[in-house]
Amino acid sequence: MEPVRLGVNVDHFATLREARKAQEPDPVAAALYAEMAGADQITIHLRGDRRHIQERDVDLLRKAVKTRLNLEAAATPPMVTIASTHKPDSVTLVPERREEVTTEGGLDVLLNQNLVRKTVVDLKEAGVLVSIFVDPDYDQIKAISKLGVAAIEINTAKYAETRRDEQAAAEADKVAQAARAATKLGLKVFAGHGLDYRNVRRIVQIPEIEELNIGHSIVARAALVGIERAVREMKTLLAR
Ligand code: PXP
Repeated sequence: MEPVRLGVNVDHFATLREARKAQEPDPVAAALYAEMAGADQITIHLRGDRRHIQERDVDLLRKAVKTRLNLEAAATPPMVTIASTHKPDSVTLVPERREEVTTEGGLDVLLNQNLVRKTVVDLKEAGVLVSIFVDPDYDQIKAISKLGVAAIEINTAKYAETRRDEQAAAEADKVAQAARAATKLGLKVFAGHGLDYRNVRRIVQIPEIEELNIGHSIVARAALVGIERAVREMKTLLAR
């Protein structure tokens, strides 16, 4: 079986930079080091509140990234404009709440059907591959399969937050079932959120999953051992 592709989310290099409103650390430099260490994709989340990544970073990353650039964004008209301007390789639509510390769950496509449908049409017109971040929920995935998007990213947060082993196995099984259902519906399957060096292997074992997007744990390890080693160690865990 092919290894799972690794998307490295470099947002938190920008979090550290913005904490001081300084120039460093530079998420663009981090992205280049991550690519040299084997990252298959660079992922960034341009939030409405611009708490980490700025539009200038999107512009520079678009020019510098040699693998693929995946932009996580809310389904809003300003984000469609930004995606159409900078043309990342893919956009992952995520829900966004100003007060949240990080993305709290998958996008509720059933609740926001018209807005999401319109956003997908606009992004496809801009030539961007569209993915939707979703909880491992069959009804949501079924609804997404009718929107003409290429892929879903299954939210692994609940799995990652679970401490007890049996519960983690049950949550991983929900992710696996969702992945199987999505594949049957013709969607590519990615996953991410909360994955780290200890919990990632169970998700790697799910054959339908092609790509994982991982940020916080890699950046945290990078702060101690360097980005190249942090990425290389994660890449090793994505073999299968
Ligand atoms: N995937 C999506 C859709 C996300 O919103 C995030 C967080 O920005 C991630 C993956 C990465 O999550 P983490 O930083 O917990 O690895």
